[in-house]
Amino acid sequence: MKPVSAADYTVAVVGAGAMGQGIAQVSVQGGLKTLLFDARPGGAAEGAAQIGKRIDRLVEKGRIGDDDASSAKANLIPVDDMSALADCDAVVEAVFENYDVKAELFKNLEAVVSKDCILASNTSSIPISSIARNCENRDRVAGMHFFNPVPLMKLVEVIRASETSDETVAALTELGKRMTRVPVSVADMPGFLVNMGGRAYSSEGLRMVHEAVATPAQIDAIMRDCRHFRMGPFELMDLTGIDINFPASTIIYNGYMQDPRIKTAPNHEAMYNSGQFGRKTGSGWFKYDGGKVVDPPSPDHVSDAAAASRMALAEPDETLEAFCKEIGLPVGDDDGSCPILAAPFGDDATHTAMRTGADFKRLVCVDLSCDTSKRVTIMTAPGADSSVRDAAAAAITATGRAVTAIKDSPGFVAQRMSAMIANLGCYMAEVALATPDDIDLAMKLGLNYPLGPLELAADLEPRRCLQILDRLHAITGEDRYRPTMWLKRRALLGLPVHTPS
Ligand SMILES: NC(=O)c1ccc[n+]([C@@H]2O[C@H](COP(=O)([O-])OP(=O)(O)OC[C@H]3O[C@@H](n4cnc5c(N)ncnc54)[C@H](O)[C@@H]3O)[C@@H](O)[C@H]2O)c1
Repeated sequence: MKPVSAADYTVAVVGAGAMGQGIAQVSVQGGLKTLLFDARPGGAAEGAAQIGKRIDRLVEKGRIGDDDASSAKANLIPVDDMSALADCDAVVEAVFENYDVKAELFKNLEAVVSKDCILASNTSSIPISSIARNCENRDRVAGMHFFNPVPLMKLVEVIRASETSDETVAALTELGKRMTRVPVSVADMPGFLVNMGGRAYSSEGLRMVHEAVATPAQIDAIMRDCRHFRMGPFELMDLTGIDINFPASTIIYNGYMQDPRIKTAPNHEAMYNSGQFGRKTGSGWFKYDGGKVVDPPSPDHVSDAAAASRMALAEPDETLEAFCKEIGLPVGDDDGSCPILAAPFGDDATHTAMRTGADFKRLVCVDLSCDTSKRVTIMTAPGADSSVRDAAAAAITATGRAVTAIKDSPGFVAQRMSAMIANLGCYMAEVALATPDDIDLAMKLGLNYPLGPLELAADLEPRRCLQILDRLHAITGEDRYRPTMWLKRRALLGLPVHTPS
């Protein structure tokens, strides 16, 4: 194989659609001679013209200089015949997401290129090994999974299929770097890394709405304000499109032999069946007009109740006491009618009342697992006295914080969601999908997560994270919430969650 650092290293991009154009653009901007081929006559030239316009816009915006733009454009060569790819060193395929089309293409490519030429697919969902099985030399076949829009998304997943050689993975990693991307090495498993890792955020959000724990607007606000995600799971689903993320969820769930951890909820399929795909159709979890959300429902608890002048604690809790003191909540002895506060980890309000003996009608649980400076999540048991909850909420809103009041849920919203994301990250580490550091890096770059899944486990503390999952598992009785062995072992041994096996 030719070293990727060679000055004349030549890449071919096959398929000049949305992704192929993006891949060819970063390739030429990385200084690589790049052939662009499309089966549609004139498609490659049209694609090259689009790339040229995008490069010109980068010059206008002052992002790149004239010389760099000229050499990038000179490096881009549209071709109309596959035979023109004979001398290239690597092919990145970005044709239709159809197995038969890709299988046929790889067979034809092998007849044209040299034995040393790497063949990489940008497929989002087809196993690389199943594409490679049609090839003579399977060791040079791998995945190179870019994200849309390619020039803005730095991550590229280099997918190692069962017969891919180390040399091929190393070369594609170098190639990704030359294309100014950040490559991570990933095993050939359903959804690869980012699309699999993203299942927890959407499916647990859907699950909580399905259980009527909270509304989409409430869950989004909690994840933004208290866990610093740039977007909540529902606005993110509406942006990606439910026509994309429901089928993706189903494929990945089935690919993992129906692991309940990544099972989506019935409301996801119902939304898909209704044709409300999100922004692109004007409605999904929210309503849109010209890409803007219309009349977004408020996530805030509103009541005209007077603030409680006294609150008691359900059990001794230094963190809760410190929180009350810091924000000036009046805490004292139970007078028999005041709100009783608790800050459980993993328990719902019902089990907190059972455990502490507190009067469940006056018990108000507060989530202290996350940032409470802007928004505080409170939770009550069924049958709780809403006037007591409202008096506690009013005391919190008087400190300048918004309150989101949810229905009873083991782990509130933020704990439950964070623990599920962390557990799925630990699962990906356990099955050696990628290294713990690469899992974190990929999820931050690919989905804008503020912390990677294992970093989230570290932030919660592995023991706490395990406690949340254990309680979720025990209370719901569902395998969905079973902690991974990866997390359990590290939590029990008191080890950092990134500790390798
Ligand atoms: N769009 C995304 O967000 C995204 C993200 C990651 C990966 N992907 C994957 O990238 C691939 C391409 O997706 P896209 O959105 O760019 O599709 P697209 O429909 O925009 O482009 C596909 C292009 O491939 C060409 N083509 C089809 N068959 C061909 C063949 N046999 N030989 C040469 N050219 C052929 C078509 O003419 C078309 O120009 C798919 O495998 C998709 O799953 C897409």
